[in-house]
Amino acid sequence: MGTNPESDTRPFPEAGLPARAASALAGLAPNESELFTLRLDRSRSDLLDPLARLYGERTDYAAFVDDLVAVLAEGWAARPADLRHLDLRRDLEPDWFLRQTMVGYVFYVDRFAGTIPDVAAHIDYLDELGVTYVHFMPCLRPRPGDSDGGYSVMDYRAVDPRLGTIDDLAGAAAALRARGISLCIDVVLNHTAKEHEWAHKALAGDPDYQAYYRMFDDRILPDQYEATLDEVFPAHAPGNFTWYPAIRKWVWTTFNEHQWDLDWSNPRVFLEIVAVMLFLANRGVEVFRLDAVAFLWKRIGTRCQNEPEVHDILQALRAATRIAAPAAIHLEEAIVSPRDLVPYLGAGRHAGREGNLAYHNSLMVQFWSALASRDTRLMAYVLRSHFPGHFRNATWATYLRCHDDVGWAITDEDAAALGLSGLAHRSFLADFYEGVFPGSFARGALFQSNPLTGDKRSSGTTASFSGLEAAMLDDDAAGIDTAIHRILMGHALIAAFGGVPLLYMGDEIGLLNDHTYLSDPDKAHDSRWMHRPAMDWRKAERRGVAGTIEARLHGGIAEIMRRRKVTPHLHGENPTEILSAAVDGVFAFRRISPLGPLVALFNFAGDWRRVPWGFLEANGVGDCEDRLTGHRVAPEEGGLALPPYARVWLT
Ligand code: GLC
Repeated sequence: MGTNPESDTRPFPEAGLPARAASALAGLAPNESELFTLRLDRSRSDLLDPLARLYGERTDYAAFVDDLVAVLAEGWAARPADLRHLDLRRDLEPDWFLRQTMVGYVFYVDRFAGTIPDVAAHIDYLDELGVTYVHFMPCLRPRPGDSDGGYSVMDYRAVDPRLGTIDDLAGAAAALRARGISLCIDVVLNHTAKEHEWAHKALAGDPDYQAYYRMFDDRILPDQYEATLDEVFPAHAPGNFTWYPAIRKWVWTTFNEHQWDLDWSNPRVFLEIVAVMLFLANRGVEVFRLDAVAFLWKRIGTRCQNEPEVHDILQALRAATRIAAPAAIHLEEAIVSPRDLVPYLGAGRHAGREGNLAYHNSLMVQFWSALASRDTRLMAYVLRSHFPGHFRNATWATYLRCHDDVGWAITDEDAAALGLSGLAHRSFLADFYEGVFPGSFARGALFQSNPLTGDKRSSGTTASFSGLEAAMLDDDAAGIDTAIHRILMGHALIAAFGGVPLLYMGDEIGLLNDHTYLSDPDKAHDSRWMHRPAMDWRKAERRGVAGTIEARLHGGIAEIMRRRKVTPHLHGENPTEILSAAVDGVFAFRRISPLGPLVALFNFAGDWRRVPWGFLEANGVGDCEDRLTGHRVAPEEGGLALPPYARVWLT
């Protein structure tokens, strides 16, 4: 990170720590409190520059900064010794999360294991897949009933009682850490449940807590905002504001009625969330998945997404954990257009200072787009034109599917550059993955179609999207084989592209769409539950039976991850360069490493392709080995032959 030229010159902490902070540190050994002040000093401008921009004009700014330093000091003073040791290790190995040895796995605790204490029994299973990072899907205490899959949190310091206790969470984090696995959990930054204590106080009329949220006495401002806002859930939660007669106010509710948007222009909100994050970090959380961050700042006349202040908030949060819990990193969830996505990994003055990870939503969308169209030109164009090949102190979280729908985030401009109509292509993809486009191999469902904008999103699992469901129903052995190759190609792509590949629970054994959510009244309106099936451990057992679908998928994915770990070219610091495809239907990129280049090829065409040797030679891998198989690749006449859905990593 280093010094920032814009450094704020406030005499801090040189002038001595504010009293409350000093007293928090008083009980610590001198070296421990010195470590705190050294780290505070290291991140001083990373923390204060953005905060001065956000809140510096306020008369209570100096008091706020004192309070913040106190919260940081209290967090550090409460940090357990084993985690302080981890902090030191991470200080010494700051690239830990960029390494090619990283592999992530994402699951709902209840659907994977039952409860948090039950997770320990499945660590061997995670180990088999090479997992070094697990994301427990929302596990903090949600509101009762529909909680948007846990994203409507009523207590950030308690765990969902159905899953366990906060001590269970700390125990699971320690058990995972002992096996080399970092725990990631969600912190929902944009909103709390309306059942959260802050919201309760606001509803009871407390003006200090009403100021935690965005509340309006009449429709004047809401109408002005609404003129340029999108609707996230138009089908079941239209509009962005909700009227509460008890307090006679409109409350900003971007997502669901029960999710109240926090007002980040209030520095008390910032303080509260920092305290929450340190509380959780001290229970062993190593990766914070910061939810829905694009929405944190509101500005009339805009979509109220990706506003510059969002990046100031996120940089300051990052500096805060770097001071008081430096082992932790931040994964920022912003499912936005390519242009808006890049800054979440730190751009301009935020370079190296913001998210350590961000979801590569565009790579995911382009994977499914290319798979349906058998054409990789749009994919190559978008990934080449909008994304730098490399970031400072940050990398992508790469994935094929997650718990959310796929929004077909392909802009009209990008589609037009390839001679396509954006609307027609997006609508083709939604139809294709719903399974209604003639000849589609996919099975899925629509999510939130918006008749006003023509926007249609899609739900479905990796396996069902890839053709496995349809082929199994038809008892079509060749179709099953093809679907398996599509899934393995996708995993070879996310394992090599650059970033931490995130495996989504059940994809490794081909779990299909699950329709049981339709009979649960809290879930029936939300087709995303279709791709959140429970783990089928009996099916998982079949991974040990050679030749089964489960064995081929699980074994194939585990092998890809094993290969990734021994291929240092794939370290996150090595830039990714998208290559102009030598052949139609083949997506190609190059990782540039001190060891020489790695060229990765993926055949989306659906039939055989030949990549000319001249292309491989020009990219530095004329005489090469396929790192995925360990086999030498001997030049053949006509070029390198790639069967349908082939994937190779050539060095
Ligand atoms: C994120 C989550 C999504 C949730 C939303 C609101 O986008 O991934 O599941 O509905 O935030 O919290």
